[in-house]
Amino acid sequence: MPIAFITGITGQDGYYLSKFLLEKGYVVHGTIRRSSTFNTSRIEPLIAKYSKEDNLILHYSDLLDSSSLSTLISTINPDEIYNLAAQSHVAVSFNNPVFTTQTGTLGSIALLESIRSLNKKIKFYQASSSEMFGGKSNEMLSEASPFDPRSPYAASKVFAHNITKIYRDSYDIFGVNGILFNHESPHRGETFVTRKITRAVSRISVGIQSKLTLGNLDASRDWGFAGDYVEGMWLMMQHENPDDWVLATGESHTVKEFVEEAFKIVNLNSSDYVETSEKYFRPNEVDFLLGDSQKAQNELGWKPKTSFKELVKIMVESDLELAKRESVLIKEGLLSPTWDNS
Ligand code: NAP
Ligand code: GDD
Repeated sequence: MPIAFITGITGQDGYYLSKFLLEKGYVVHGTIRRSSTFNTSRIEPLIAKYSKEDNLILHYSDLLDSSSLSTLISTINPDEIYNLAAQSHVAVSFNNPVFTTQTGTLGSIALLESIRSLNKKIKFYQASSSEMFGGKSNEMLSEASPFDPRSPYAASKVFAHNITKIYRDSYDIFGVNGILFNHESPHRGETFVTRKITRAVSRISVGIQSKLTLGNLDASRDWGFAGDYVEGMWLMMQHENPDDWVLATGESHTVKEFVEEAFKIVNLNSSDYVETSEKYFRPNEVDFLLGDSQKAQNELGWKPKTSFKELVKIMVESDLELAKRESVLIKEGLLSPTWDNS
């Protein structure tokens, strides 16, 4: 059975990728961070299903602890490493620039060094990002487009992207960069804009929230479904030669369009509930992202399967179920709503 090692297994993509690999028959090892509260909620169903047979094994580690990463790689000797861990929130990266940069840069080089010194046959996937392009024009972006990072997060991703190429070219290591445009799901972190919107719309619809406060409504993103994108990550690792590939839908929508589509699903008018606050604007904005995934379509046979409207619907419907459960807990006095001013 092939063995995969995933950093960031507790995140959105970690959940979808580990599910995908486990269903393919992989043994999956993942790193989790020690935390004072549980941080494994996304992968609990996978733990219940796969850990008894030792197909899913979790290890305490941190991208800043290169010695633990190296010990794990030498003990597990995986076939494939997927480096998904990151402080992945762009706005937070302006507040925590050193931590974001350390996590984004040191982890990738520590993993590549382990591969170089322990076993050069181990394949490496780096989670690169469309944020690296900067988004100052309305052009379609491909693997050939120049990088122009606009946040500490994006700058750290450019480093990790480049060091992956450097190790590929210098040491003949199978290192790939997946340049992924925004991808969302019901498992998306709740402070990213799409999930913040679908959580709020659902709570407003069941009467337990009164408004939705956002920042820049004019920013435009190429939003796809995370479940589609993890298949692309795996396909990159199965390609004959390592390379860089863009995964994107080829459609860009503004935050305002996402908001309107989400409210439409619950038959409400967004203008009755949405307000903006300076608090959610960033020191530097990526205005427009639109990706060209022709290379992945031609070389990997990958294509996005979920449309923008389907994505919004999947997320709103899932969050409506959560909101209904919250509503019951509030009525029973077991939960206090705190989200209206968050
Ligand atoms: P996410 O939900 O924020 O998950 C991030 C993961 O990284 C979590 O498991 C988190 O652990 C872990 N992590 C954070 N700091 C760490 C550290 N110092 N050491 C070890 N683990 C650490 O992100 P995602 O949406 O799944 O994205 C996965 C990767 O793809 C990230 O690298 C992201 O930057 C990149 N990316 C994402 C998108 C997108 O649209 N989703 C697009 C392009 C690239 P905790 O659970 O303990 O916090
Ligand atoms: N988070 C957030 N919250 N964003 C808001 C809000 C708000 O209240 N209001 C407007 N926005 C705008 C942001 O200014 C940004 O232009 C856009 O919504 C999307 O923000 P996020 O959902 O936070 O995602 P992101 O595009 O900055 O970054 C995500 O995608 C990148 C790929 O392009 C993250 O997943 C990154 O890790 C990933 O690399």
